[in-house]
Amino acid sequence: MPRNINYLRLSITDRCNLRCSYCTAWDKWEKLPAGEILRYEELLRLAGVAAGVGIRKVRVTGGEPLVRRGVMEFIQALHQQQGLTEVCLTTNGVLLNDLAPDLYAAGLRHVNVSLDSLERDRYRELTGSDHLLEVLAGLERAAALGFHPLKINCVVLKGINDDELVNFALLARERPYQVRFIEFMPTVSQEQWIPHFLPMEEVRRRLAAALGDGVPVGRNATAGPARIFRYPGFQGELGFISTVSQHHCPTCNRLRLTAAGRLRPCLFAAPELDLKSPLRQGASDEDLGRVFREAIHRKTAQRDAFVPGRAMVSIGG
Ligand code: 5AD
Repeated sequence: MPRNINYLRLSITDRCNLRCSYCTAWDKWEKLPAGEILRYEELLRLAGVAAGVGIRKVRVTGGEPLVRRGVMEFIQALHQQQGLTEVCLTTNGVLLNDLAPDLYAAGLRHVNVSLDSLERDRYRELTGSDHLLEVLAGLERAAALGFHPLKINCVVLKGINDDELVNFALLARERPYQVRFIEFMPTVSQEQWIPHFLPMEEVRRRLAAALGDGVPVGRNATAGPARIFRYPGFQGELGFISTVSQHHCPTCNRLRLTAAGRLRPCLFAAPELDLKSPLRQGASDEDLGRVFREAIHRKTAQRDAFVPGRAMVSIGG
């Protein structure tokens, strides 16, 4: 069956209010000059073009998207974009407690929160900031407002947070959150981080030993690579994402647009198509649509060799 490329991740900024140690080599990171980052009007135009070539779901990401001024109006405008049926946000949750009501009013319902430790000291060490309690309060507030699904993304790091797997799972028992465990993908700081890779099979084995087996939940057409399970007595669910140990290229349905306006067919492959230049040189919607079609065409069932050098903060996960 041909793949339906219907999901676009839009990175709206490369700035972030956290400094997660595995995300990028922060001391070497150079932020984009403001003029290089796509303006909201440009992003909205591209979202419209993307909808015209079959994109139905858009995820706003970063960097940390909530640090960009005007993000609320942008999210509201995305909800009005013809052809899109789902608008989602991925955030580190630091500003969620403050912004959840406005996000809800802007039409947003689907939020993913990146959170790798439930222990305050460790959170501080991993992220370089002491915001764990705000993030947890933000999740509570978002749940109370009716955000659904409310997902937590936990990147599993052997020897760093893998003693918290059961605690994360229990959070999904006590709260209506979908807690998703993600295999660590080596990015810029590859060498140093390789020993912290823990295969998802091992994560599942450890959780099965503690909680038993869950019941698999079906996926919809725009769903990502997570395998989702329900467990008796849980308010929420658990998800497992094994991007590294198990190729899901044949079902990958997504494109990524970097904050600098480059379209990336595959997270793991370096080639990117420039959308910003044609956009700023007066290209028609038809011309821009051709760039999207080319990116869709380039998505093959085979993953290219991983090319390090691009920090996750500039791609948006
Ligand atoms: N490996 C796996 N996941 C990562 N993320 C960021 N960097 C990595 C990495 N190296 C996750 C974030 C966020 C999502 C967008 O990507 O935690 O939840």
